Amino acid sequence: MYKYTFIMGEDKARFFKALGDPTRLTIVGCLLKQDHCACDFSKISGKDQTTISRHLKVLVEAGILRYEKDGRYVIYSIRDDKMKQTLEKCGVEKVDSCCSGSEMDADTKKDVVKKNYGRIALGLVQGCGCCDDLTSEQVAASIGYSQQDTESFSEANLGLGCGNPTAFGEIKEGDIVLDLGSGAGFDSFLAARKVGNTGKVIGVDMTEDMIARARKNAERYGFDNVEFRMGDIEDLPVETDSVDVIISNCVINLVPDKSRVFREAYRVLRGGGRMYISDIVLLKELTSEERNDEELICSCVGGALMKEDYLDLIKEAGFEISIIDEDRDISKRQYSGYPLESIKLELRKK
Ligand SMILES: C[S@@+](CC[C@H](N)C(=O)[O-])C[C@H]1O[C@@H](n2cnc3c(N)ncnc32)[C@H](O)[C@@H]1O
Repeated sequence: MYKYTFIMGEDKARFFKALGDPTRLTIVGCLLKQDHCACDFSKISGKDQTTISRHLKVLVEAGILRYEKDGRYVIYSIRDDKMKQTLEKCGVEKVDSCCSGSEMDADTKKDVVKKNYGRIALGLVQGCGCCDDLTSEQVAASIGYSQQDTESFSEANLGLGCGNPTAFGEIKEGDIVLDLGSGAGFDSFLAARKVGNTGKVIGVDMTEDMIARARKNAERYGFDNVEFRMGDIEDLPVETDSVDVIISNCVINLVPDKSRVFREAYRVLRGGGRMYISDIVLLKELTSEERNDEELICSCVGGALMKEDYLDLIKEAGFEISIIDEDRDISKRQYSGYPLESIKLELRKK
């Protein structure tokens, strides 16, 4: 029997723990075949760069990988031949052609999302593609909006959410609220009613036609405490430490670099500030084809992260997390049974 003579005690535990993760096994399998730049693994696995860096760190600390810098690039390889043999004896298989069918790049993803939500804003298509046979009112009712909410702002409810952050979030009179990915303004208007004239709501969205529709709606409903700003939530057009509450409804899954979104949210919140998120997270990994499928990306599935990865990114940004609710039935109701849930979170800036 092969003996792992050079891996002892705690090191052995760290070695097996490091391999006990599907993403890390894929990384190691690819590296058994050939050396790779750190940037390749994001494309290979469909995970964002922050998540990949964390996995690579675990593998380096377990003594499985090593890396060296080559100009702008960091090249990873299996530590040495002995480690290669150990991995193969442990049953880790080489992963062939791991760069084929590479992941759609971040800019292309954003363009696809913008185009899709632009068409929705213009009324050329209904809904985001996740729930074609349901009306916007039916979607809203199933995710926690009252009939009064939808009747008050029928032009702003496009049936694009996966929860109701203004209902489970603590929003007080006078608060400055920021709505990430504000769409046609539905949640912004509900929040604006709560903050009153002494407060303010800022909605940020990267789709020009959505912003135009939201501004028109603000006029229609007579809000002068709501402002819609064009911008990317990876790089918020908002001052540091200026916001009391952030809300976001079914948006962050669409963003390529989710880690940046959480870091930006942390930056703009005041100390003690709160963030209320409703978003789609995965309960099982998707295939590479599914992650690259434009329709699935736009319908909030293709770009979603595994729940644990999503929560880890939030913690890494510095937030304290409370899980308010997890709606698994939404998978059957709206997402053709894909292994996902809508998660409702309260985050606090320490
Ligand atoms: C599923 S819709 C949700 C809209 C709104 N939150 C609601 O519940 O009705 C997603 C929205 O996020 C916007 N969006 C997606 N990625 C974004 C990004 N990186 N920055 C800003 N807005 C983004 C889209 O333009 C779209 O309006």
